[in-house]
Amino acid sequence: MQPAAVKPLRFGKLEIGTPVVLAPMAGITNTAFRRLCREFGGGLYVSEMITSRALVERTDESMRLIGHHPSETIRSIQLYGVDPVTIGNAVSMLVAEDRADHIDLNFGCPVPKVTRKGGGAALPWKQDLFSAIVQSAVKHAGDIPVTVKMRKGIDGDHLTYLDAGRAARDAGIAAVSLHGRTASDYYSGEADWDAIAKLREALPDIPVLGNGDIWSAADAIRMVRETGVDGVVVGRGCLGRPWLFADLQAAFDEFQRDPNSDAAINPVQPTLGQVATAFRQHAVLLTEFFESEERACRDIRKHVAWYFKGYPVGGDFRAALAQVRSLAHMDEIFQDLDWDAPYPGDAAEGPRGRLGGAKSCSLPERWLDSRDLVGDQRATLLEAELNVSGG
Ligand SMILES: Cc1cc2nc3c(=O)[nH]c(=O)nc-3n(C[C@H](O)[C@H](O)[C@H](O)COP(=O)(O)O)c2cc1C
Repeated sequence: MQPAAVKPLRFGKLEIGTPVVLAPMAGITNTAFRRLCREFGGGLYVSEMITSRALVERTDESMRLIGHHPSETIRSIQLYGVDPVTIGNAVSMLVAEDRADHIDLNFGCPVPKVTRKGGGAALPWKQDLFSAIVQSAVKHAGDIPVTVKMRKGIDGDHLTYLDAGRAARDAGIAAVSLHGRTASDYYSGEADWDAIAKLREALPDIPVLGNGDIWSAADAIRMVRETGVDGVVVGRGCLGRPWLFADLQAAFDEFQRDPNSDAAINPVQPTLGQVATAFRQHAVLLTEFFESEERACRDIRKHVAWYFKGYPVGGDFRAALAQVRSLAHMDEIFQDLDWDAPYPGDAAEGPRGRLGGAKSCSLPERWLDSRDLVGDQRATLLEAELNVSGG
């Protein structure tokens, strides 16, 4: 495909200079991680998903999750829901209380406990319900742009992304992102960028963003070249590597200057000391977010393997950090670290985060028989929004 010049992303009235989106990731993309990433580069930094029902009920957790730091100039919130009325109420609340500048709707969750009830990536199969949800969100959002994020479908025989993309466009959605996997693929194999290219072609009138397996800035440019997308959505690639956004910014600056340029960018190659500093800063920002140093230190533990991937730190260091109790304890653990140890090269790169294998998608009974909701499927669905996190 002939590379088209990538322009700034335009979602309704919003303009995003660098066409890069931090993928919503439950338990990860809270305001602490978003702030850390934004220090490195431009783009749009989306919250982790928040269920519309919890938001309407104003649970403490959902109210914490919708919060933004004043430095976050585009307040972007991802909602997940299965009911048009509840989604409409959640969007109305965000608008009335001036809590968001952009709202994304999540239709990509592959987790069995969600799809088993007809939620997440199983939902777009029901065309009437999908359309009703996106229409309700757009209607209640007023001039706040609403976007949709989805997977290809339930499995290879039950693809939904082209129909859902068109329905979203017709409902007035400002942009669509596609993760090039089905729910059954889970996180296995390689994301299908051909499907992303197909969606790009099918929706010439709105921005289409591609998602899946961008591990480096070079991957991002390759996706744009191969699929023609207007922007990229980056998830696992930035886990433990917030500086990836500096690489992405540099690569897109060069691409915007000359789409045919093959000038290599110089990726950030942090020393061990720089990694440790970012890790600590992440914990400091989490402390602000949770208003608890103890909780922040518990939370940062899950990031240890990602930050220190490939660095020669030893098992004892990793084990100690995986039980870090406080910032002072972290400093103690860091005391013997070789701060000048160089970036280790390929060992620090590549896949990270969820990589789980394919599994057949659990669905409610007779879900696939009809593309509209029938019988008591609506009642089953309401359970698809309980105790949910992640996509
Ligand atoms: C830990 C984790 C949590 C996730 N949570 C969400 C979520 O809340 N909302 C969502 O739409 N997708 C979620 N996803 C999916 C990602 O946004 C993204 O679509 C997926 O990881 C593929 O992109 P990648 O290959 O760049 O990681 C999550 C993924 C991971 C690894």
